[in-house]
Amino acid sequence: MAHHPANRHQRPVPDRSIPQPEGRSRQPRASRSLRLGIDYGTSRSKLVITDYSAVDGDRSFLVRPPSSTNSDDYLIPSTVCATEDSLRFGFSAEARADEGTPYRSLKMRCAYPDRFYGDPAPLPTGLTARDLATLYVGHLITLGRQAGEQYAAQRDSTASLSITLGVPMAQLDDKRLHLAFVGIAREAFELAGQLDLQDTVSIADARDALNSARTTVGHQPPQYLRDWVRSEAEAALFWAHRSPDIAHGRYACVDVGAGTTSASWFHINPMRSGGILVNDRLSFYSAACAPPACDALDHVLATHVEDARTLSKIRGRENELLQRLPDQGRAGLDQVLAEIAKVFGEASGAAFPKDRSILRWRRIGRVFFLGGGTKLDVVQNRLLQEKADWLKREPVADPGLPSDLFEQDGSELRADPTFLLVAYGLAHRLGDVPDVFAPGEIDPYTPKHPVRDRVSSDDLYGD
Ligand SMILES: Nc1ncnc2c1ncn2[C@@H]1O[C@H](COP(=O)(O)OP(=O)(O)OP(=O)(O)O)[C@@H](O)[C@H]1O
Ligand SMILES: [Mg+2]
Repeated sequence: MAHHPANRHQRPVPDRSIPQPEGRSRQPRASRSLRLGIDYGTSRSKLVITDYSAVDGDRSFLVRPPSSTNSDDYLIPSTVCATEDSLRFGFSAEARADEGTPYRSLKMRCAYPDRFYGDPAPLPTGLTARDLATLYVGHLITLGRQAGEQYAAQRDSTASLSITLGVPMAQLDDKRLHLAFVGIAREAFELAGQLDLQDTVSIADARDALNSARTTVGHQPPQYLRDWVRSEAEAALFWAHRSPDIAHGRYACVDVGAGTTSASWFHINPMRSGGILVNDRLSFYSAACAPPACDALDHVLATHVEDARTLSKIRGRENELLQRLPDQGRAGLDQVLAEIAKVFGEASGAAFPKDRSILRWRRIGRVFFLGGGTKLDVVQNRLLQEKADWLKREPVADPGLPSDLFEQDGSELRADPTFLLVAYGLAHRLGDVPDVFAPGEIDPYTPKHPVRDRVSSDDLYGD
């Protein structure tokens, strides 16, 4: 098993190997340790697998659906569609949405029912929003497992897959929600071993399998909660910790998704090693996460713009539809933007005690934008305005691309990394990631001794 040099806090990882089909080969094949990072998004989900057994060091690859045909199909619709007696998931649910009742933004309906902006269609008899979310996560695990098995088979080995599900940080601060998501992750893992959730399943089978998964998992939380779920905000920072392209300095990372906005501040400290400055420990300053995000903005568009009445007609078209927003929709839009910016403001307020010099923040502060909501000019501008006095003159930093993230066949990534950094972080084992759990557990920041002998001051604080 390969261990990354950054493995400073290695902890035992429970064995959650997938039972392999019998009778394929008499010769036992080597097992590859794969970790599936599940970024269960409110609108679209993203999957990345890290191979911890690769001979040339850990490598991660993007999971695409089996018959992948277009470069955007790594964005898996977080939709479940119900007919009278069956359920469909993901792409299949969207493609056949007219044949049944599509459920979108289920993650919000399950986690924050009072901030749910989707169509509140009645749920299928005997199933809750949490049941549908669990079945959907089971679908994601099925896709990840298929990709992992195919990848391993091509290397004459079998797959030993473990998973981590991402949840908005605020959910980890809320015990009830936190345990609910741990339950979803564990039950979904069981379900994916029992049912074929690739495309469609009967409602009767789904109910039986949910009951049986719950009995197996029981009500006891597992010993290593962080193996099963980790916060999206924390996961998104992992790549910055690893990336050689990110200069040391102070950064905000703001992810505006469909359901929630999360913002965090962190600092990458320089350290002298062999005569050069290298990035050392990432100090995590603060995080905040809360609704709303793009769904709320889409709700304003649905209320005021003709021919944009449902989420499916609006998502991804917001920049264009905002041009047609009449004046009476302006106040609603401003309010959503203010609430999104407030989350960034909260993270900033919590970070400030770690370094009380405004001058220093302004000299070095920059921001990474992640998530679909930050593709909207109005959102970016409002966020930058919120902390204008904390950020450098050219404040937007480019996250670039993790150097060990590829397509499954090893070719260059054909995807937008700003949608993938959460899944990439989740696809790494606990021991590899900065040891941060919930905001309440963040250590106070202790500044390092100043590094006097700089390579150049621009390396540290250049404009
Ligand atoms: N150019 C764009 N490309 C993709 N999504 C966009 C674009 N512009 C706006 N969006 C919106 O961004 C949202 C999708 O972003 P993202 O995939 O980051 O969200 P998510 O991960 O599903 O949600 P969350 O993180 O809140 O659970 C959708 O609401 C979509 O309408
Ligand atoms: Mg997201």
